[in-house]
Amino acid sequence: MGLQLTSEEQDMLDGKQGKATRKSMEIITTLGEIYGAERLIPISSVQIAGVSYHNLGEAGLEYLDEMADDGRVRTLTTLNPAGMDLIEWKKHGIDEEFAINQQRVIDAFAKMGVITTCTCTPYLIGNLPHYGEHISWAESSAVCFANSVIGARTNREGGPSALAAALTGRTAEYGFHLDNNRIAQVKYEVKAKLRNTDDFGLLGQVIGERTRKKIPYIVGINRATSEELKSFCASIATYGGVALFHMEGITPNRTSIPEETEIVTQEDLIAARSQLDDADAEIDFISIGCPHASIREIAHIAELLENKQVTEGKTVWITTAKPTKDLAIKMGFYDKIEEAGAFLVSDACCAVAPLKGRFKGLMTDSAKACFYARGKNSFKTEIRTIEQCIKEATT
Ligand code: F3S
Repeated sequence: MGLQLTSEEQDMLDGKQGKATRKSMEIITTLGEIYGAERLIPISSVQIAGVSYHNLGEAGLEYLDEMADDGRVRTLTTLNPAGMDLIEWKKHGIDEEFAINQQRVIDAFAKMGVITTCTCTPYLIGNLPHYGEHISWAESSAVCFANSVIGARTNREGGPSALAAALTGRTAEYGFHLDNNRIAQVKYEVKAKLRNTDDFGLLGQVIGERTRKKIPYIVGINRATSEELKSFCASIATYGGVALFHMEGITPNRTSIPEETEIVTQEDLIAARSQLDDADAEIDFISIGCPHASIREIAHIAELLENKQVTEGKTVWITTAKPTKDLAIKMGFYDKIEEAGAFLVSDACCAVAPLKGRFKGLMTDSAKACFYARGKNSFKTEIRTIEQCIKEATT
């Protein structure tokens, strides 16, 4: 049948609603044609990735400036982490030239009407779709969380396609927007004990590496907090490119249960941990908040840091969203963390900030952070619980 457009969508494509809308509609319809979509659907939320100037460079910024000329978002839109805390960047050692360029990126998004809070956990700060809503999100951990934990529907968008969705209010109906592509394909029986966010990250690593693009149906987990699920989502998306999973008794989507079954044992988790632990790691950087920390995690860290001091030669970043940081300031958690010598960093994270060459070894509770620390920044890594991370930072 081919891709059918409404008259309004055709007007957008014909340039009757401006240059940026036309360009955006070209991206959306091209994707629709490639993936065999029959129509476009309205979306209620967008999350744009590719925000750090570190990744965008001048070419990316030029594209944004061009789109900001006459492009305006038509739906709730927030951003993925940038390369720095937009306010306190100086004290985190970010250089001025980078800061100026990063701010130019943010200004371009602001001009388009984007809410310029930069976070990979938009669902913790008000960009929270409901079950069944069609959305266009780009950050892999957030995509996985939205599809699986919330039950919203999104493909894993790229930076330009997410922006295009924001500027048109549409996406093409293919992939995870359709029921048929959301059915579980392999069952994973978890026989390992999961205690903390780091364990859930390791489980995501094990299942992600095994399942690759096959949608997992996971059994054997009785309970999981939002923080544990966000860690799991980040990891399974990083190590397997997984954008949707089902977890029996925990996630809300309906699916048939696959027959093909794999077992995940305690030994699998131990092996995954040793894969992320470099024996010769010299830890001088501790980062918690990948994905961005919740207020509950920040409150816990503030308590752990009470009457303690970060050891000389070590740097601690707790990364989070700006609204969460504001709440932490109001609740006194920020003061406790900063008085101990750690930094509560908003809008940025250890993977997209320009940190290469600044540190030797990262300790974190996040399997995803280990992946990027090694790949992008050539840091050695160790994965531990949040409590162990703070202990390492202060003794
Ligand atoms: Fe978020 Fe950065 Fe981790 S974008 S998931 S904190 S690598």
